Amino acid sequence: MNLELLRAQAQTCTACRLAEGRTQVVFGEGRPDARLMFVGEGPGEEEDKQGRPFVGKAGQLLDRILEAAGIPRETVYITNIVKCRPPGNRTPLPDEAKACTSRWLVKEIEMVSPQVIVPLGAVAAEFFLGEKVSITKVRGNWYDWHGIKVFPMFHPAYLLRNPSRAPGSPKHLTWLDIQEVKRALEALPPKEGKAVRPVSQDPLF
Ligand code: URA
Repeated sequence: MNLELLRAQAQTCTACRLAEGRTQVVFGEGRPDARLMFVGEGPGEEEDKQGRPFVGKAGQLLDRILEAAGIPRETVYITNIVKCRPPGNRTPLPDEAKACTSRWLVKEIEMVSPQVIVPLGAVAAEFFLGEKVSITKVRGNWYDWHGIKVFPMFHPAYLLRNPSRAPGSPKHLTWLDIQEVKRALEALPPKEGKAVRPVSQDPLF
């Protein structure tokens, strides 16, 4: 089993109601052995059209954040909690998130085996922290998920709605956060094989 096979399998998924409204499945993309993985909430209109994650306005801002920090997009892996666009861009429902993460995201993480995962926004942070969270409280802090370092950040769509760059603003905090991610990656030893034990064999999944 590899990522390309997993991606191919996901294209025909009908495990939840989001399959009904999608144009296409938006699987993750990036380096199959990336050290850094970003996890968003779910595809928006542009992603649904193009079949690629984070290519709309929020994705373009994510690109600028990565570029400012000197992290080339091609070196990371970018994916979402749900792979199909929720109608009207609503938040994915808990059963949709569960159906999708247990089939696809957990396996993507096992295969890529990143050293650092950055959940973008509360929906993604909730998956890794295992409880409802306020992104304002959890962003900029380190957590552990099955031995992988997790560092939640604000969702770029939230930054588009809050454009101030004043000290303490979401954009300013995000700039500090991405630099912390870069520092952490530089301090970690190079990847050697898989950092994760098979998570899907955990009784929780
Ligand atoms: N927002 C997300 O959470 N994911 C995308 O892929 C695009 C926008």
